[in-house]
Amino acid sequence: MAIGIFDSGLGGLTVLDAAQKRLPDVEFVYLADSANAPYGVRTADDIYDLTCKAVQRLFDAGCDLVILACNTASAAALRRMQEAWVPDDKRVLGVFVPLIEALTERQWGDNSPPREVAVKHVALFATPATVSSRAFQRELAFRAIGVDVEAQACGGVVDAIEDGDMILAEALVRSHVDALQRKMPDPQAAILGCTHYPLMQEAFQAALGESVKVFSQGHLVGESLADYLERHSDKMGSGGSAYLTTGDPKRVSDRATQFLRRQIVFEAA
Ligand code: DGL
Repeated sequence: MAIGIFDSGLGGLTVLDAAQKRLPDVEFVYLADSANAPYGVRTADDIYDLTCKAVQRLFDAGCDLVILACNTASAAALRRMQEAWVPDDKRVLGVFVPLIEALTERQWGDNSPPREVAVKHVALFATPATVSSRAFQRELAFRAIGVDVEAQACGGVVDAIEDGDMILAEALVRSHVDALQRKMPDPQAAILGCTHYPLMQEAFQAALGESVKVFSQGHLVGESLADYLERHSDKMGSGGSAYLTTGDPKRVSDRATQFLRRQIVFEAA
């Protein structure tokens, strides 16, 4: 029984960690495409090719359901994969929708027409590829009207986190928040639209101020995965838990252990 969780690197561990806490009896296979991270500065075609290759690796490991715990892949590749590539007996899901449902106060799968919601001014922090895809704004427009979204492409933050340089990551977060606030001085809510950013959640919250509600994906994806599995128990797959990386397993294990504060051992994908 294994569910696949994919990210370009370490960010998806924030989703994995929440999913493991919510579903302690489920086995997960995590794949970090560390050799090719970051994805956020790549073209959509490149992200599509790399994501298909990584997801195929998770299918080969026995996963029938794969979560793209990567907003960049969800934004730039997921729709095309679902339309043209995913086999009928497999499912690939993204991480955008649970977040947007939380922001727009919707229950899972509520497909009623868009309506006015409490929050009017939203700051979106994401990778350059996610921002330029406008996928977040598109999904939001299906569910809410009258919400003003200001997006900030946070160049450099993912590289700094992958390198373990948290001082640089923190400085970059402050400067990206500052740039956002020059465009939108008083956001009511902020979306951490990259799974790496919850690792810097305190820095985002401190720079934004306590009055801004910060949304991140971990537990929201955990909840919606639990809900999905209740309705699709056939998608549990086969095989046991594993942590796979296309990068250097020792280096990736050290960083992952530092981030999750428990021993994580990666092996070569
Ligand atoms: N953690 C990923 C995301 O959610 C990808 C970051 C990257 O590789 O640039 O967007």
